[in-house]
Amino acid sequence: MALWGGRFSQAADTRFKQFNDSLRFDYRLAEQDITGSIAWSKALLSVGVLTQDEQSKLEDALLDLGKQVAENPQQILGSDAEDIHSWVEIQLIQRVGDLGKKLHTGRSRNDQVATDLKLWCKSQGVELLEHLDKLQQKLVKFARQQQDTVLPGYTHLQRAQPVTFSHWAMAYVEMFERDYSRLQDALSRVDVCPLGCGALAGTAYPMDRQQIAKDLGFRRATRNSLDSVSDRDHVVELISTASISMIHLSRMAEDLIFYNSGESAFLDLSDQVTSGSSLMPQKKNPDALELIRGKAGRVYGSLSGIMMTLKALPLAYNKDMQEDKEGLFDALDTWGDCLAMAELVLDDMNVHEETTTEAAKGGYSNATELADYLVAKGIPFREAHHIVGIAVVKAIEKGVPLEELSLAEFKELAPEIEDDVYPNLSLESTLAKRQALGGVAPEQVEHALTEAEVRLSKR
Ligand code: ARG
Repeated sequence: MALWGGRFSQAADTRFKQFNDSLRFDYRLAEQDITGSIAWSKALLSVGVLTQDEQSKLEDALLDLGKQVAENPQQILGSDAEDIHSWVEIQLIQRVGDLGKKLHTGRSRNDQVATDLKLWCKSQGVELLEHLDKLQQKLVKFARQQQDTVLPGYTHLQRAQPVTFSHWAMAYVEMFERDYSRLQDALSRVDVCPLGCGALAGTAYPMDRQQIAKDLGFRRATRNSLDSVSDRDHVVELISTASISMIHLSRMAEDLIFYNSGESAFLDLSDQVTSGSSLMPQKKNPDALELIRGKAGRVYGSLSGIMMTLKALPLAYNKDMQEDKEGLFDALDTWGDCLAMAELVLDDMNVHEETTTEAAKGGYSNATELADYLVAKGIPFREAHHIVGIAVVKAIEKGVPLEELSLAEFKELAPEIEDDVYPNLSLESTLAKRQALGGVAPEQVEHALTEAEVRLSKR
């Protein structure tokens, strides 16, 4: 049964009906549609369309329906209702008879769906904030455990300068902190209520829309009815926030895939998040991380999808907008799953400290230290850079690290070099020198860790 039969003398073609119906995905808005309907029944009471008795009956029936839905949301899928709004209304009429037919007075599915979706975004947003928080907690915990573990830092996938595993983890804490604040910021704009805007021009009943907003837990009511039913900025913003966060997740996944590879062997991933090969018995594949890396792509697909759909749509509501939901649901589900999976991966990683330290010593990653040493001896940096370049070539030819060149060999390159060059080339000194704010020196990492621990404990 459709909600709009009067003007039609022919039934919808079944192929069109299948094409048009959205129940198969918007059934996920059942809880929000019921909550919104209860708020609407109160608004109808306030303008005298419903009596107190009628409103109570409707509210009770809606609450009861809500309970039934919560037990098994999938049951909705058995119906041939057009969408979730129709489904709820049909169910209501079945329960309370003709009284149920009064509920849609002054309301349109346009302000209804806009409200439902915003309510859904708000509750989903809270869950995602929790996921981001948990992942940050896990990273900080890992950073504490690995505070002194040296790790080669890379640029261009070549060993560049030593860092620590702790500093690496804290870099991702920064990224997920930005995601957290981006999500909070996006949610603050979702928090305005479109209910009472009707189809596009506003409702003809003199309701207090601020009160409706308040009843539904929104910060305030929206200001313009045309905009309210056409606005899907929040869908774009949330998928975009998810997309940026998926960049971070996929980069972290890629780092860990590399660290887990046979080539670097910096760590072992847990058996719980890896899988075997059907042919090669020796394999332990980082599937969880590869899927995180791969799923970033589908989230970006949803982002471009919704932007293409909304671009150049005339005001106000158009059916194109029904296409907002599947991409949003999928993007936010995927993001939540990936955050949870990243957390699981970090839970149990076995870091090979000796291997990471040895790797950090190789690759001439203390070359900058030698240049800084020469600068301290009064040689301009550009010249020092050149001299060290020659020193590296010499060391490569001999097959030794820089610190194994003899003093005589160093002096050939720059007579200013003395015995005190050697302590300057050690890993400890390389790390310790990065004392400026945000650097890898142990004091700075300790400072970053404490700051993050305090910040996260206050959330
Ligand atoms: N299923 C529709 C959607 O998701 C609900 C709104 C229908 N509005 C309309 N004017 N046909 O967008």
